[in-house]
Amino acid sequence: MDILRQVLLFVHLLGFAALFGGLLVQARSADKSVNGLMRDGAGTAFLAGLALTGVLEAGDGDVNHAKIGVKLVIGLVILALVMANLRKPKISAGLFCGIFALTLVNVGVAIFWSSAHAA
Ligand code: HEM
Repeated sequence: MDILRQVLLFVHLLGFAALFGGLLVQARSADKSVNGLMRDGAGTAFLAGLALTGVLEAGDGDVNHAKIGVKLVIGLVILALVMANLRKPKISAGLFCGIFALTLVNVGVAIFWSSAHAA
């Protein structure tokens, strides 16, 4: 089961990296849009996060539901914003910064809030 958790965490982090990379590559450009990296990254991070939660629930550790709940809501908002603006040729700087900030918040929650499971 721990191998599965590690593989899902690996995929989860690749999803985060793709989302973050898709944001970072256009941080300096005047025109911003939702690119393929952001779409695939947000989707992968979300689905792998759900699967990770399932594996943790199936395990024998206590799951930090408050932390997972916060991550789920933020992950859902990121996914909704990304999917809702996928076909737009350009997005506003405010929306771009919002998705960027929410992504950083979810990383912060993942790392600084005590572990998702009591090892
Ligand atoms: C864009 C959204 C997300 C980002 C950027 C993100 C980022 C991260 C990062 C960086 C970690 C590794 C933390 C560490 O190893 O210390 C992590 C772990 C985790 N994430 Fe996410 N996450 C996102 C969405 C989600 C969602 C939607 C869920 C669940 C519904 C979720 C559930 C988890 C769980 C359970 C772990 C811990 C796995 C473990 O310790 O075994 N994440 N996340």
